Amino acid sequence: MTHPVLTLDLAEEADTAALGQRLAVIARPGDVIALYGDLGAGKTTLARALIRQLAGPETEAPSPTFTLVQTYRAASQASGLTIWHFDLYRLNHPGEARELGLEEAVDGLALIEWPERLGRDLPLARLEVQLSFGGAGRIARLVDLDDWSTRLNGDWRSPE
Ligand SMILES: Nc1ncnc2c1ncn2[C@@H]1O[C@H](COP(=O)(O)OP(=O)(O)OP(=O)(O)O)[C@@H](O)[C@H]1O
Ligand SMILES: [Mg+2]
Repeated sequence: MTHPVLTLDLAEEADTAALGQRLAVIARPGDVIALYGDLGAGKTTLARALIRQLAGPETEAPSPTFTLVQTYRAASQASGLTIWHFDLYRLNHPGEARELGLEEAVDGLALIEWPERLGRDLPLARLEVQLSFGGAGRIARLVDLDDWSTRLNGDWRSPE
């Protein structure tokens, strides 16, 4: 099966952040964004920018390296969207993610670093953001395993 793919050049850190902000504009409750990439590829940079776009620019968004998960409340959404930011690098076994609230997270907006740690528990409907070292800085491949292609092809813009 082939899936819609978008490849973007992220020449510098600001481009990674801008991608996070742009995804924030089209993200919806129930979305899962799986952030793939080696150590230092830019997963947290992207997640932080996305979180700040939704929860407010002053939001502290530390890497959940040791807590494994951090949650945020979107400021602008009357529905009170919860954003779940996972870093599963230190996950011991996939079942542990359930204890961290993975099932609840998918009702909100789930951003998952090291999604491969989930094995079969990784939600099938997801946007994959695959970050790699390349070009001037990083390359992002966005692979749509959901209905994101209509949104990516539509009017998505940088927030004001
Ligand atoms: N497009 C880019 N070009 C150059 N450097 C970048 C780019 N995007 C992010 N970086 C830099 O890469 C470094 C690592 O970023 P970040 O912490 O987001 O990576 P990570 O994928 O979350 O790593 P980890 O696997 O350790 O969690 C940071 O110093 C950040 O500034
Ligand atoms: Mg990280």
